[in-house]
Formats: sequence, structure tokens, C-alpha cells
Amino acid sequence: MHWIILMNLVLATVGGGCKSSDDDDDQAETDATPPYGELADTELATIKEFVLGNEYGDWEATGIRAATLNSPHGPARIFFNATLVDSIEAGHSSHPKGSIVVKEVYEADMATLMGYALDVKIRNGSGANTWLFYEGLAPKYDEVREIGSDACAGCHSAGTDYLRASLP
Ligand code: HEC
Repeated sequence: MHWIILMNLVLATVGGGCKSSDDDDDQAETDATPPYGELADTELATIKEFVLGNEYGDWEATGIRAATLNSPHGPARIFFNATLVDSIEAGHSSHPKGSIVVKEVYEADMATLMGYALDVKIRNGSGANTWLFYEGLAPKYDEVREIGSDACAGCHSAGTDYLRASLP
């Protein structure tokens, strides 16, 4: 009996570590409804207003620093909302719906802001499809906005629940 429960846990954990756009939607239940933490919804206009309005500005953040872990994003400053901070500090392997991380992306001069990336957890559970990935660079700020984006999830699957950076 206990063995079966344990195996289910192990399988669930292993599944969560996989890169996959075909993680199916066994998590696609009711909790995928807005709002998502501080974001009222995940429309492009809402996300752009949120990042351009610096609405994450008072969250826990790193300083501006060079890319780590072979990040393709360049110098960056990373902000974590309180939901995510609590979950990371609790050591959870899967973060709750409403977790948001914002990355300010800078030019090589480490001072000129080029744009933003934002990952928001849209439902509880594991797999790339529990995250919406956004990246927007000046002047249009609309390059990527996709649930479970392959362009992002491949690399991000190396982290715990698709999160690569550590808390400051
Ligand atoms: C080639 C691998 C790679 C790809 C592709 C990639 N990232 Fe990242 N990303 C990283 C690494 C590594 C970090 C940690 C960087 C750091 O600390 O400087 C990171 C950090 C981030 C962060 C800060 C939170 C975190 O997870 O550390 C966000 C937000 C982010 N990336 C969004 C995106 C989005 C959106 C895409 C797709 C458009 C994307 N990334 C594509 C490797 C990648």
C-alpha cells in the first residue's frame, strides 16, 4: 500500500522534471482561471502594462548582474513575487499558481534596459504547461507569449519547476 503511494509520488516528480510540451493536461482543471498572483490575466496588454509600469518594482530582487548558467538573456535583474519567494524558501518542487518571476534584460553596458521576460504559473501542478512564458523587447515588447513555450521550456526544464535563477 505505502509502496504504491510512494511510486505515484516518484512518478509525479519524475514527470515534472521532463521537458515537454506534451505533458498532457491532467492538471488542466479549474484552477487555470484568473487572476494569477498580481496579474489580473495573461493578455499581452495586461502583461505589457505590468512590466512597463514597473509594477513588480518592490519585489525581492537580485542586483543587475552578468548572466549565469549559460543564460542567453544577457545581463539581468530578477524579481520574485512573494508567492514564489515563500514557495522557494519552503523548498517546494512545484510552485503554486500565481507565482511570478520578472527578468529585466540589460544591454552589455549593464545599465540600458532592453526589455523583459516574465514567467507566471497559471495553474498548480507540474509540467511546462503550468507556466506562461513571456518575453518582450523594446520597442514592441511582444516577442513571446505562450503557455509551455518550447523556446523557453527546453532550457528552463533544467531548473526546479522551470525556474533557473536563485533568490538573492
Ligand atoms: C539557452 C537556455 C535558455 C533559453 C532558451 C531561455 N532561458 Fe530563460 N533563463 C536561462 C537561464 C540559465 C536563466 C538564469 C539566468 C541568470 O541567472 O542570469 C534564465 C532566467 C530566466 C528568467 C528569470 C527566472 C528564472 O527562471 O531564472 C526568466 C523570467 C526567463 N529566463 C524567461 C525566459 C523566457 C520567457 C524564455 C523564452 C522566450 C527563455 N527564458 C528562454 C536559460 C534560458
